[in-house]
Amino acid sequence: MRAAVIHTQGEPPRIDDVPEPEPGTGQALVELGAAGVNPIDIAIGSGRFYGGSPDLPYVAGREGIGRVVGGDGFLPGARVYTGRAEPGSLAERFVVDADSYELPEGDDDELAVALGIAGLAGWLAVAYQAQVRPGDSVLVLGATGTVGHVAIQAARLEGASRVVAAGRNAARLQRASELGADATVTIDDGDLATAIRDAFDGDGPDVVIDPLWGPPLAAAIEAAARFARVVNLGQSAGADATLRSGAVRGKGLRVLGHSNYDVPRDVRRDAHARMLAHARAGELHVQIEPYPLERAAEAWQAQVAGPAAKLVVTR
Ligand SMILES: NC(=O)c1ccc[n+]([C@@H]2O[C@H](COP(=O)([O-])OP(=O)(O)OC[C@H]3O[C@@H](n4cnc5c(N)ncnc54)[C@H](OP(=O)(O)O)[C@@H]3O)[C@@H](O)[C@H]2O)c1
Repeated sequence: MRAAVIHTQGEPPRIDDVPEPEPGTGQALVELGAAGVNPIDIAIGSGRFYGGSPDLPYVAGREGIGRVVGGDGFLPGARVYTGRAEPGSLAERFVVDADSYELPEGDDDELAVALGIAGLAGWLAVAYQAQVRPGDSVLVLGATGTVGHVAIQAARLEGASRVVAAGRNAARLQRASELGADATVTIDDGDLATAIRDAFDGDGPDVVIDPLWGPPLAAAIEAAARFARVVNLGQSAGADATLRSGAVRGKGLRVLGHSNYDVPRDVRRDAHARMLAHARAGELHVQIEPYPLERAAEAWQAQVAGPAAKLVVTR
C-alpha cells in the first residue's frame, strides 16, 4: 500500500510502497477516509515530542478516519476515528484499536478528522477541563490556529459572557472575530498583559485557554482574574515560561495541563459527536485544506510553515 514514510528526522515524509499492517486481537484494519496533519506529527517527526519518536523509518500520522475492512473490534464497514493509528494514519490502510470509536454517519471525513485532535483539544480544554459556564469570561491564546478557532466557538456555545481571541496572524484573528470572539488582541512585542486586561475592561479573564506557553502565557497569568482556570495544551510559543509566584498564588489560579490522550474514550467520543452536531447545525466551523495522500509531504511542509487552515490528507 502507499504511505507517507519518515526516513530522516526533521524532514517531510516520502510516499513509498510499504506492507499492509495486520490487526491484532481486538483491532481492526480500516481504509483511509481522511487523516489529519497536526503539530504533534511534526514534533514526533523532528524528535521533539516529549513522548518520544518511533524508530526510523516509520509511517507518519496519528489520527485518521476510515471504514473497517478486516479484523475484529468493529463491524465491517463501520466508520471509525482513531487518534492513535498503527503504524500511522498517512497511509491507504491503518489499524485501529479499542481506544478508537465509531462516529455518526452523515458528515464528510475531512470535517470529522479536523474536529479530531485539533477540535477535541479546543473543545475539551473549554468544556471538560475549564468547565466554562454561562457568565465566564474566556481568553483564547493562539486563537489563530485550528485549536484556538474551535476553543472560541466552544466558549460561545458553553455560554461564556465574553470571549477574547489573542494571536499574531491578522487574517486568522479576523476569522476568530467572525467565529464569535468579542474582541481580539494582537500578540506582538507590546505589553500583552495590559492589552489583555483592557480587552476584559480591566478585570482579566476567568478562563485562559493556552496552546502557546512561553511569554504569551506569562502575560495571560498576569492579566488573569482571581481564581482563574488556566488550561495549557501546547507550547507553540516556547517550551519554557517564567511565571510569578505572586500572580499564581496571590490570585489562587488553577493551572491545568491538558492532553487529549488523558481523557477517557467515551468523553472524547461524546465531545466529537457533539462538535459534529454543532457543525451540522451551522454553529461550528473549521477551515480545511485537503491534500491527496500522494501530496502528503506538501501538507507536512504547510504545517511546518504555519498553516492557514486545518490540513487534511485524503485518498
Ligand atoms: N494537548 C493536546 O491534546 C493537543 C491537541 C492538539 C493540539 N495541541 C497543541 O496545540 C497547539 C496548537 O495546535 P493547532 O492544531 O491549532 O496548530 P496550528 O493550527 O498550526 O496553529 C498554531 C498556533 O500557534 C501559534 N504560534 C506558533 N508559534 C508562535 C509563537 N512563537 N508565538 C505565538 N504564537 C505562535 C500560531 O499563531 P499565528 O498563526 O498567529 O502565527 C497559531 O495560533 C500546538 O502546540 C499543538 O501541539 C495539543
